[in-house]
Amino acid sequence: MLNKLLFTIVLAASVQTQAKETAADNYRAYCVQCHGMEGNGTGVNIRDMSVVPRDHTDAKSMSGRSDEALFKVIKEGGTSISKSILMPPWEGALTDEEIKDLVQHLRTLCKCKFGS
Ligand code: HEC
Repeated sequence: MLNKLLFTIVLAASVQTQAKETAADNYRAYCVQCHGMEGNGTGVNIRDMSVVPRDHTDAKSMSGRSDEALFKVIKEGGTSISKSILMPPWEGALTDEEIKDLVQHLRTLCKCKFGS
């Protein structure tokens, strides 16, 4: 009984860290070229961009975005929330689950919540 319980806890913990790593990996794979290695909006692409990518570490502006809005802009791209077309839509590359994890990843980058 106790063994079974422990197993469940360990399993839950490993699923948790895996989700986190996947989000960090996806961020590194798809987002850093614009949003920067640190997520602070200083990716290698920005020299040529007319609209600068959001600084994801900026708690002040990131706390003004709901999780739903972040999900939407990642999935459907900048124009879906009247932002720049330079922010691409990711629905072809990422699953809803992965996008949700990325929203949580953004919350760890800004160390903020919506409305805080
Ligand atoms: C080709 C460059 C580029 C890539 C790649 C990119 N973005 Fe963006 N992103 C932008 C730009 C530019 C903006 C700012 C749009 C604006 O302010 O009009 C932006 C804005 C955002 C915003 C903020 C919108 C707001 O509410 O201010 C979020 C969230 C975001 N990006 C997430 C991501 C995530 C997650 C990825 C990776 C899956 C990613 N972006 C990849 C260029 C990019």
